[in-house]
Amino acid sequence: MKTEIKPLKSINGEVAIPGDKSISHRALIIGSLAHGTTKITNFLRSEDTLATLNILKAIGANIELTNAKEVVIEGNGLQSFQEPEDILDAKNSGTTMRLIMGVLAAQNFYSVLTGDDSLKKRPMKRVIDPLSKMGGLFFGRKQGNYAPITILGTDDIFPIFYSTPVASAQVKSAILLNALYAKGTSQITEPYKSRDHTERMLKYFGANIEEKGTTVTINGGDDLKGKEVFVPSDISSASFFIVAALIMENSTLLIKDVGINPTRSGAIKILKMMGAEITTLNLRYLNNEPVCDLLVKSSNLKGVEIKGDIIPTLIDEIPILAVAASQADGKTLIKDANELRYKETDRIKAIVNEFTKMGIEIFEREDGFEISGKQKIKGNCTCESYNDHRIAMSLAIAGLIAENPININDFDCVNISYPRFLDTLNTLR
Ligand code: S3P
Repeated sequence: MKTEIKPLKSINGEVAIPGDKSISHRALIIGSLAHGTTKITNFLRSEDTLATLNILKAIGANIELTNAKEVVIEGNGLQSFQEPEDILDAKNSGTTMRLIMGVLAAQNFYSVLTGDDSLKKRPMKRVIDPLSKMGGLFFGRKQGNYAPITILGTDDIFPIFYSTPVASAQVKSAILLNALYAKGTSQITEPYKSRDHTERMLKYFGANIEEKGTTVTINGGDDLKGKEVFVPSDISSASFFIVAALIMENSTLLIKDVGINPTRSGAIKILKMMGAEITTLNLRYLNNEPVCDLLVKSSNLKGVEIKGDIIPTLIDEIPILAVAASQADGKTLIKDANELRYKETDRIKAIVNEFTKMGIEIFEREDGFEISGKQKIKGNCTCESYNDHRIAMSLAIAGLIAENPININDFDCVNISYPRFLDTLNTLR
């Protein structure tokens, strides 16, 4: 589907952002591993989270979508799964594939995981290496690095002490889920801290788990108890509208119930450093996660350098931060973001190619890019989304401040994380 985005002067009002994708995946998985009822409200019903839901159902989990945003799971504990009858399809979702590998490796059965063309090009050895050390057996394409992946699970899981080479919540979470089945204590250390939703939710469900700096320690064998989970609005989805309000004149936007976990909200920190007027209201905790309302006003932004340990906390927001940077006063440099090359598409290449097409000057680096500020966006072009939801939505926000309309190809990929993105945008027009 090709979509035309027309320029807009300002956006105002209150916007309801859908539930957090990372937390929705985890609530499905951890609820299925627990004993008893888990009720998930404000669940994100999108292509990625439905991939997780369908895989869990295929291995015997008792999950029901009770309405558009609510899921009820009748969990039967860690040992309640059965061998699937067919290949399991994680579609476009790296989180689904990597986290589910952690569960499947601890089951005494055979399973095969595949995904779409994008997911089949994403590296899996980063998960397979530690999980193999814990007992699971894996086979994959191209020296075992790519899906389809065959898993011969085992009910004899060893604990592990492991330092991950990359800061990745997907890798860390796969190990943590596998470690729930281990006989003994496991410890994972990351080079920088990645999002800690798995740790917070496991603790909420009763696991014996501790976070200290970049190290997490978890005991195996503990029973998890079903819980009520309220999924906060996704800060990654909110960031498209936050940046839109900041870069358009005379705009004020209120976004309620946003998850503001410090390991996820680096973009807010950076935008504030850039001079953004973002006010945090009504801060509270729901199921171990900090949640707040955000009030955002048009602001004069300044360029910044974004690098080092803040990168994992804003990794998914770099495409939209690049849009903000193009309107800031002065240059913005993004480095240490090599991981962007391994996302749904090579996001560094995608941003550089499509920004250039729209008339924005940007320079590619191996680990990021450099972008000068106060640029006019000519528009009047057709951009590629690369079937990457976050690229599609970032280009759409850039299109709002372009001098002419832009077209974006394959825009329906937004269904991966934000099915009603265009409807929401239109309510703010
Ligand atoms: C995610 C972790 C991040 C992020 C992805 C979702 C998660 O990936 O980019 O969109 O839910 O755990 P990595 O942990 O692999 O960096």
